[in-house]
Amino acid sequence: MKFVEPFPAERLPELLRRMPKAELHMHIEGSLEPELMFALAARNGLSVPYPDVESLRCAYVFNNLQEFLDIYHAGTLVLRNEQDFYDMAWAYLQRAAADNVLHTEIFFDTQTHTGHGVSAEVVINGLHRACADAKAGLGLSASLILCFLRHLSEAEAFEALEQALPQRDKLVGIGLASSELGHPPEKFAKVFAKARALDFRLVAHAGEEGPPAYIWSALDALKVERIDHGVQAMRDPALIQRLVQGKVPLTVCPLSNLKLRVFPTLAQHNLGRMLEAGLVATVNSDDPAYFGGYLNENYTQTFAALGLAAQHAWQLAHNSFEASFVEASAKRAMHDRLDGFFETFE
Ligand code: ADE
Ligand code: ZN
Repeated sequence: MKFVEPFPAERLPELLRRMPKAELHMHIEGSLEPELMFALAARNGLSVPYPDVESLRCAYVFNNLQEFLDIYHAGTLVLRNEQDFYDMAWAYLQRAAADNVLHTEIFFDTQTHTGHGVSAEVVINGLHRACADAKAGLGLSASLILCFLRHLSEAEAFEALEQALPQRDKLVGIGLASSELGHPPEKFAKVFAKARALDFRLVAHAGEEGPPAYIWSALDALKVERIDHGVQAMRDPALIQRLVQGKVPLTVCPLSNLKLRVFPTLAQHNLGRMLEAGLVATVNSDDPAYFGGYLNENYTQTFAALGLAAQHAWQLAHNSFEASFVEASAKRAMHDRLDGFFETFE
């Protein structure tokens, strides 16, 4: 990076907003804004159990992950048809493009939808069509990662994998999400081994609320390439060393951590310490419709709370491209865009 400090602090939010970046941890069902939720409910002849958008938004107060997951799941009930999934994804992709996201890897969970009668094919086709249109219409590349729900059984995860296989070419990876505590990664070792044999890229949520031991087992039992969240790694020096030496990326979601009370305040978040330790941390929005901000909000609020500076901005964006699952030439092109941006920013 040719960028020379000191960079004027008052221009940091602008730098963060305009900076090219990738997003690697965003659940598409968590991008469903109340306005679209009501519109889809009306289109599908369904109702939302709140009188209006404002009262629904007021319900978005959570004490932990499970309280959020219950509301998140209820919100998905309005999604019925392929066009609903397309519209939800398209709305997110427009927001991402406005945040100067060059590439995004989108989580979705078919089990949530097959659980109420919507097929995996409908879900994947709607999301994939939006991703394809984003390339042409928004200049943004997007790929899809299917997450198994860890509160369900491994047999059910195998079933979800089978159901998705006819659409294999529309997916880049497999992940693991939902209620973490009591559902350690090793519960899914066999189905992740099968996904690995099928050449899926592998990620898993670990160390969001759960202990460092869950991060160890995501690495050792599931053989994932990235850890989603991973903030609890900072409690285990041997694990930090393993993650640094292995250059294992962590997809950190600061506003999510604040809303789900993983940290009492943003000023107490450990993102700055993660970077200092040499971890390949990235910034992401997780479930932006529920947690109060898309990607640029995560950057600007976290930088303000932690007093991070321009070189941290470059490092985090660089990490986001490095940790992405794009092919080498596309990765190089994104790194070049970032470095060019920093060299010419004025
Ligand atoms: N599904 C959607 N958001 C999640 C999160 N933050 N943790 C686990 N599962 C999720
Ligand atoms: Zn998540």
